[in-house]
Amino acid sequence: MCGIVAYIGKREAYPILIKGLSRLEYRGYDSAGVAMIDKKGDLNVYKRKGKVSELISFVKDKDTTGNVGIGHTRWATHGEPNDVNSHPHYSQSKNLVMIHNGIIENYATIKEGLTKRGHTFLSQTDTEVLIHLIEDIQQHEGIKMGHAVQAALKQVIGAYALVVLDKNDPDTIVAAKKGSPMVIGIGSDDFFIASDASPIIEYTKNVVYLDDEQVAIIRRGQELKIRNLKDKEITPYVQKLTVELESIEKGGYDHFMLKEIYEQPRSVLDSMRGRLQADLGEVRMGGIVDHEKKFEKAKRILFIACGTSWHAALVAEYLFEEFARVPVEVEYASEFRYRNPVIYEDDIVIAISQSGETADTLAAVELAKSRGATVLGICNVVGSSIARATHGGSYTHAGPEIGVASTKAFTAQVTVLTLMALHMGKVRGTLTESRFRQLLYEMEAIPSKIEEVLKLNDKLREIAYTYKDSRNALYLGRGVSFPVALEGALKLKEISYIHAEGYPAAEMKHGPIALIDEEMPVFVIATKGANYEKVVSNIQEVKARKGKVTAVVTSGDKEVKAMADYVIEIPETDEFLVPLIAVIPLQLLSYHVAVMRGCNVDQPRNLAKSVTVE
Ligand code: M6R
Repeated sequence: MCGIVAYIGKREAYPILIKGLSRLEYRGYDSAGVAMIDKKGDLNVYKRKGKVSELISFVKDKDTTGNVGIGHTRWATHGEPNDVNSHPHYSQSKNLVMIHNGIIENYATIKEGLTKRGHTFLSQTDTEVLIHLIEDIQQHEGIKMGHAVQAALKQVIGAYALVVLDKNDPDTIVAAKKGSPMVIGIGSDDFFIASDASPIIEYTKNVVYLDDEQVAIIRRGQELKIRNLKDKEITPYVQKLTVELESIEKGGYDHFMLKEIYEQPRSVLDSMRGRLQADLGEVRMGGIVDHEKKFEKAKRILFIACGTSWHAALVAEYLFEEFARVPVEVEYASEFRYRNPVIYEDDIVIAISQSGETADTLAAVELAKSRGATVLGICNVVGSSIARATHGGSYTHAGPEIGVASTKAFTAQVTVLTLMALHMGKVRGTLTESRFRQLLYEMEAIPSKIEEVLKLNDKLREIAYTYKDSRNALYLGRGVSFPVALEGALKLKEISYIHAEGYPAAEMKHGPIALIDEEMPVFVIATKGANYEKVVSNIQEVKARKGKVTAVVTSGDKEVKAMADYVIEIPETDEFLVPLIAVIPLQLLSYHVAVMRGCNVDQPRNLAKSVTVE
């Protein structure tokens, strides 16, 4: 959570910071702020509660000049979202300012000590405490900023990606990270620092990903210097960015979410590219090749994830058990990490995360590694913390996902997981060759079937209109469609603020059925497959209580059509691949409902794209 951006060089910093903050706004939008040092040496700090657009209006007639600056967009943890708690934060003398993404867990103890030494604090934030500590050390020990930051960070428990600016040294910025992401772009004669590459790509493709407990001393016109907290010099490893600018822009769509929904034929294809060869009867997964023997012998697979990624893991449970006949457990990373889970050395643990930065998932990865398991990652963001912390794994190649509600990342995750399950089924000999090949061909056809579903957009908008004022909604599915019901409910609640629940359809009679009346919209995934007749019975139960049923059915279905209020016909596929198609109309429905209710679709309240706090 929180986005940070900084610049030092010859250009005007402010436009770079503002553009960068707009791109990072998905990481938090409770407040935004910037600080620049102008030619006269004045440090100008502007910050405002609310979105970046409010900051822009606020600074309209103010001095924003300067070739060095820092910027922040906040997702509040310590202290409510208001102007005072916004970043950047000053030190005691007001000579230093800092932006920070993360949490300083022991800030209260540090604050107590500093208060005794005469420090006074303006905000309730942990960040302000840290910048006071840095200055306190710098003044008392008479050391340079880089060393003061190192010394302060040795006292800190918690996570941080931070940048410090010193009014008295406008040619230097100091950045450091632990647990929160930070990337440094190296231009021809300037440097760009940000939480991810999106504020950087239009200026340079050469980047360095800072590792945990590293401090970067970035001097105008000089080479980047990196040291760890023990003061050992680290040689920067410069990588080339592969992301293109257009992939992080809206490209004519009203919202990133809509663009990302429409990108799915492409992103699913990209996630299969080079991996799936139906004609040759092959699935090749480069990132797991070194672990092939483990896959063959594994007695159990544990999935760890949060939110939508957890739903993708639930889909995977059905696929791995069906195709590879291996027991699977799906864990919320946040629960797993604080239990004393039983993990065996021959377990395969698979962490799923779009951002690759989710704090709970990362901590669960570390725990599983410490118990000797083989830990693989399925991440979307290349070079992210989880991708780097795991022993191997596969990227999803969905491209940047900017809308806070995950859409194309989900289908890309399910695609990669399906390929892994098929591959594992093959190496374990639990799938017949003909079934394996049939599934490969079905997979190959998925992108064009998603295209077909996207053509239903107008109809889905009409259905959305009838439900836009609902206060509750129920989503039902059985088997591999149960996680799709969960995902449909999550999409609706997170962007339209309508309370929604996902349930296994048969569980309805154990409680949720009490909620059903003529006001209650019920969305049911009722596609053809082993559970079809059972789901039909569940629909009848809803109709008998006057519930309003919208059913996602297989094209040509008659039985459900006769009883449901609306049907959404999707192309036929193998029943284990249905999630990849059935989730699309649910995404579009949620999108339209949220737009009709006037909600901020891409930046729903209280949420952030990358949950880097516990
Ligand atoms: O980046 P991750 O996949 O680890 O994120 C996990 C969740 O925070 C994320 O899926 C969240 O639930 C989304 N807002 C759902 O749309």
